[in-house]
Amino acid sequence: MSPIPKTAPFAEEEIDILNRVVGTASPIQRAWLAGFLAGVDASGGVLAPQPLAPARPAEPLTIVYASESGNSEKLAGDIAKAARKNGLKPTIIDMADLELSALTSAKRLVVIAATWGEGEPPARAIRAYNELMGEGAPRLDGVEFGVLALGDTAYVEFCAIGKKIDERLAALGGKRVVDRVDCDLDFAEPAARWIGDAVKVLTPPNAGGRVIEVDFGAKPASAPSTDIVEAEIIEHVDLNSSRSDKETIHLALAFEGGAPAYEPGDSLDLYAENDPAYVDELLKAAGLTGDDKLRSDFINSRDVTTLSAKTVETYAEKTGHQYVKALIADGQVKEWIAGRQLIDLIATFPIALDAETLRALTRPLAPRAYSIASSRREVGDEAHLLISAVRYDSHGRARKGVASNYVAERLKRGGRVRVKVKPNRHFGLPAPDKDIIMVGPGTGVAPFRAFVQERRATEATGKSWLFFGDRTFTHDFLYQLDWQDALNGGALTRMDVAFSRDTPEKIYVQHKIWDRRAELVEWLDKGAYFYVCGDAKAMAKDVRAALVRAYVDVKSLSPEAAEQAVATLEREKRYLQDTY
Ligand SMILES: Cc1cc2nc3c(=O)[nH]c(=O)nc-3n(C[C@H](O)[C@H](O)[C@H](O)COP(=O)(O)OP(=O)(O)OC[C@H]3O[C@@H](n4cnc5c(N)ncnc54)[C@H](O)[C@@H]3O)c2cc1C
Ligand SMILES: Cc1cc2nc3c(=O)[nH]c(=O)nc-3n(C[C@H](O)[C@H](O)[C@H](O)COP(=O)(O)O)c2cc1C
Repeated sequence: MSPIPKTAPFAEEEIDILNRVVGTASPIQRAWLAGFLAGVDASGGVLAPQPLAPARPAEPLTIVYASESGNSEKLAGDIAKAARKNGLKPTIIDMADLELSALTSAKRLVVIAATWGEGEPPARAIRAYNELMGEGAPRLDGVEFGVLALGDTAYVEFCAIGKKIDERLAALGGKRVVDRVDCDLDFAEPAARWIGDAVKVLTPPNAGGRVIEVDFGAKPASAPSTDIVEAEIIEHVDLNSSRSDKETIHLALAFEGGAPAYEPGDSLDLYAENDPAYVDELLKAAGLTGDDKLRSDFINSRDVTTLSAKTVETYAEKTGHQYVKALIADGQVKEWIAGRQLIDLIATFPIALDAETLRALTRPLAPRAYSIASSRREVGDEAHLLISAVRYDSHGRARKGVASNYVAERLKRGGRVRVKVKPNRHFGLPAPDKDIIMVGPGTGVAPFRAFVQERRATEATGKSWLFFGDRTFTHDFLYQLDWQDALNGGALTRMDVAFSRDTPEKIYVQHKIWDRRAELVEWLDKGAYFYVCGDAKAMAKDVRAALVRAYVDVKSLSPEAAEQAVATLEREKRYLQDTY
């Protein structure tokens, strides 16, 4: 609703109060208020005892989301908004804070769940997820529910967590009233459709007395926001030495008219282009070399590398290729696609293709997230990123990650790139007087450069301790001079490093955590915050396990009690992760 103008015949504070109350009111509340005031006027302005029927209390809707990078959280907000418009009273719960008793008392329940790792729940949601899956989970007889699953078809365990939660709610006696939808990375439209359907089904006929139709077709509730901005690349530096086998680019971006509002802990979504050489090879394999429009679309806006089980099925359907059909019939698809890309499918099972068929095998090219490695308080209108070029060989082909190689190989100083801020309100700095421990090997160190810059700029009094690791001290010490400056200036209190290839036995950050366990536990006992960023597959789990062992050793706890101690840190939001 547009705000009440400053010219209205009220005092300024009254206009503020009215805007706060009326501005956030649902259409039903506004309609009631309008009718009520009209009634008061009609009766000569006397606030007589209520002749109207008492307002029916709004029917509740519980919305639970399990999110890591914020997509499910955003959709939870969208569904709450739509529910409110329909006269429901939504309550949003982050699965990180969920007590299962909240589900038993829910009449209607919506769960929006993302899948992470290799088919795992988002890190913050693990505790509540395990409780829900565990033997002690309460019965949910009669609870009407619907699940929206978020995922990425590039992963074998596509939407695994949403699927499991959906099954579990039904097994506990819940009544599925909305069918689950499994969304790929381009989830905006299917999610908006699902939200529209779910709210309709979950709204009882008499909710708030009147149902207001919401047109989700016209404008998806979570349409990709348009605040993509173009930035100029003012620094493009490989932080590894020329003798390293890695390439990690420090990218400094400058924004005309000011950097978009970002906070330490946020990421930037970067919109990349595909490698023209790969696209040419793909078009050649498909026999479509002359199609310039397709070539341009494929370079700029389609995901032409991902090969999912769904892609293989579409290929079989559209081409009728006998060998691909046989692959599916033999249940070999999951195994065959591992380590392969779209080009392998086309090259291994060639068949005449037209442009539309080839396009149907691709999905929109998704942006890639990169942790912001700077603080606006120190770098002004810039944002810095730290991007490691992903390169590997598989099935006899050299492969290159799309976005990281776009940055490493094709972006240059003076060039331009499109980005969008991806806020992460679950990975921010605590109050300036709190101590922080940061564990960030490899590119995981990026947000901690932002943390240290911010703490220097704000003259924070809390102590800070960084654990960093990479392959070698000489060739892979990312931002070495920055850390030395910060240590000299006091913005960083201490730093421990682990270089895995400098010694005969491999040393990682978790080994350093173990070595420093007594002081580390002391810092935590005194209220320090513990941050982990970087590799989710191994590092984050090894670091957590090292911390549990540290509690066992330092505080003479049983493994169960030590696990509880770390779980308590997580619940208190003093153990925070941003891993990928
Ligand atoms: C919140 C967040 C923050 C992030 N921050 C950073 C950051 O600060 N710096 C950074 O560099 N990255 C960061 N990432 C990762 C980044 O978003 C990209 O995933 C990464 O750069 C790879 O993207 P790409 O387009 O180059 O590769 P893609 O084209 O997406 O290819 C990557 C895929 O290739 C496959 N693959 C990779 N290596 C191998 C292998 N050895 N064998 C077989 N298959 C393999 C895997 O399927 C992998 O998913 C972050 C991710 C998230 C979610
Ligand atoms: C490191 C990483 C691992 C992921 N693992 C899976 C997976 O195993 N299965 C899946 O379907 N999606 C997976 N995804 C995709 C996410 O589920 C998807 O991006 C989702 O929109 C994230 O939602 P959120 O922002 O609410 O966390 C993964 C994404 C990342 C970055």
